[in-house]
Amino acid sequence: MSVWRFSRYFLGSAPSITEARRFVAALLRGWPAVDEAELIVSELATNAIRHSASGRFGGRFLVSVQAHTDRLWLGVLDEGGPSSPRASRPCLDGEGGRGLLLVASLSIDWGVWGDEHGRTVWAVLDTALQGASR
Ligand SMILES: Nc1ncnc2c1ncn2[C@@H]1O[C@H](COP(=O)(O)OP(=O)(O)OP(=O)(O)O)[C@@H](O)[C@H]1O
Ligand SMILES: [Mg+2]
Repeated sequence: MSVWRFSRYFLGSAPSITEARRFVAALLRGWPAVDEAELIVSELATNAIRHSASGRFGGRFLVSVQAHTDRLWLGVLDEGGPSSPRASRPCLDGEGGRGLLLVASLSIDWGVWGDEHGRTVWAVLDTALQGASR
């Protein structure tokens, strides 16, 4: 059962990454997993801008945060495009390919819905686990 859910659109440009982080931090003030949630949303927002049509002029992306009793669901809906999100080993030259691996390591589950018209990349945090590890 969902306790609450908030969503907000952001312009698909770099300053929105910080704004999206602040949005999540404000919503999750006092929650155990706030740092992890900020990091995940920051990676997903960066990807939406860099790798999807959300980064084109006039593009935008939607950040959603859904709270359950001991779970947080985070999602970033982008405007799609030809490439698909995939977590892979970082390139040998050390450039890129770490964001989704980080998301996978912080979350208990993550995935992608959608197609070239728009994709939601989502991740789930176990807040009971996060609370216990502090
Ligand atoms: N929202 C997205 N839409 C389309 N493709 C995506 C999206 N997010 C990620 N990808 C694809 O998945 C790859 C892996 O993403 P990841 O975030 O792990 O690495 P990166 O963005 O290339 O580099 P880094 O995050 O380390 O700076 C990207 O290079 C891109 O091809
Ligand atoms: Mg990335």
